[in-house]
Amino acid sequence: MSERKGRLSGRRLALGITGSIAAYKAVELLRLLQAEGADVRVLMTPAATSFIGPLTLETLSGHPVDSDVLALQPDGRIGHISAAHDVEAIVVAPATARWLAAMAIGLASDSIVAACLATEVPVVVAPAMDGGMYSHPATRANVARLREYGYRIVEPEEGELASGMIGRGRLASLPAIVDAAVGALSGKTAVRQPAPAPKRSSSPGPGMDLAGRHVVVTAGGTMEPIDPVRFVGNRSSGKMGVAIAEAAVARGAAVTLILANASVEPPAGVQIARVETAAEMQAALRALTPPQGPMFDALVMAAAVADFRPAAVADRKLGRGAGLKLDLEPTPDLLAEAAERVRTGHRASGGPHPVLVGFAAETGSLERAQEKLRAKGVDLLVANDVTEPGSGFGTDTNRVTIYTPDAAPEAWPLLSKREVAELLLDRILVRLGKREPAPDRNGDGRDGHAGAQTASPTEGAKR
Ligand code: CTP
Repeated sequence: MSERKGRLSGRRLALGITGSIAAYKAVELLRLLQAEGADVRVLMTPAATSFIGPLTLETLSGHPVDSDVLALQPDGRIGHISAAHDVEAIVVAPATARWLAAMAIGLASDSIVAACLATEVPVVVAPAMDGGMYSHPATRANVARLREYGYRIVEPEEGELASGMIGRGRLASLPAIVDAAVGALSGKTAVRQPAPAPKRSSSPGPGMDLAGRHVVVTAGGTMEPIDPVRFVGNRSSGKMGVAIAEAAVARGAAVTLILANASVEPPAGVQIARVETAAEMQAALRALTPPQGPMFDALVMAAAVADFRPAAVADRKLGRGAGLKLDLEPTPDLLAEAAERVRTGHRASGGPHPVLVGFAAETGSLERAQEKLRAKGVDLLVANDVTEPGSGFGTDTNRVTIYTPDAAPEAWPLLSKREVAELLLDRILVRLGKREPAPDRNGDGRDGHAGAQTASPTEGAKR
């Protein structure tokens, strides 16, 4: 778009449109902002799209419209976050009573609230609604709250409303809103950097066959507290899961590692969600399997979840004198639950079905593996006999047998854990086939990895 001379010449704005009948005026507002020289991108609430088509705004603005807080932009960025970082001011017009309320409490359920929360740039808000709604104490309080945030409110006008009634609620005149945008930017120079493009790559390099895929791996053993000092746990080192995470990230995947207690360092370049107990791992998995559909392309459940936990946890260290009888309860089957949530989300969203992989640590025989494959509802089950030399806890090698619902079990030779990881990822890749990558459902754009943080190469595992 050629740069036009005007009071907003060369400035980058976001126009947030919410679901009011006055949304139709936003097209004209967009034109006026552009006439002042602004480069405007549009954010919409889902309700706004009932009043006015995103295609209209996409065509006129020359930018993709972000109307779904859960969807990525065509270039793979998170729309509301890149808007928050790319623009110099956000103008919300029209702003409904619902939107004012959501903004007042920071409820990031639409792209506009999410962008306003994530940004530091000035925000201009032009409410529009029925007169009674605008004068209600709830709305007045919400508007006052927005003023406290430093937002400029362009008061609605008195006049005839969509209902035919007369009242104060009609969207302010468009020139008044443009003036407010100009005022918000006066004296402010553009300093913000565009949000970086995500790691997902549309043109992967050689060997990056998992580029664009999100792989979730659980690793390590959970620890179930008895009291503040003791726990019930297991001997998992986390090596197998960490090897899978490392191999997946090397092949271009975005990797979330849900890491319980492990004796090895997590690899660099993965998102880590630290957990200690089965309950914490369950919460991390639930965050990644929301009702609207799973947030990953593959889940590899390599963690050794403790099978039992104390039914009650003492809040003080138990004395040794009287001996101890523990009342243990079984932990929930996290993998079976995740598989069920994935199925439910898949039914709701119709999106791609992720590949689910379970592990089975057996002793003496693998005869229970086939039944575990069925009971857990997974696509692949990796079974090993932990009593076999080279296959036990803490080893750098593993001899595994792969179970799938559609083929005979396949026994692999003794391999390094990294080799097992690579072969397993090959199998996952085959099952992913040409399925579309899972949508990034980062609700607020910052926390789509179950509270994860990026691991630095120096960050150590807990144990
Ligand atoms: N698993 C899980 N939740 C549990 C226990 C296990 O999600 N509470 C997962 C493990 O991460 C692994 C798979 O289920 O991927 C099989 O674990 P395993 O311990 O072999 O089987 P269990 O279900 O615990 O059955 P059992 O104790 O009877 O062997």
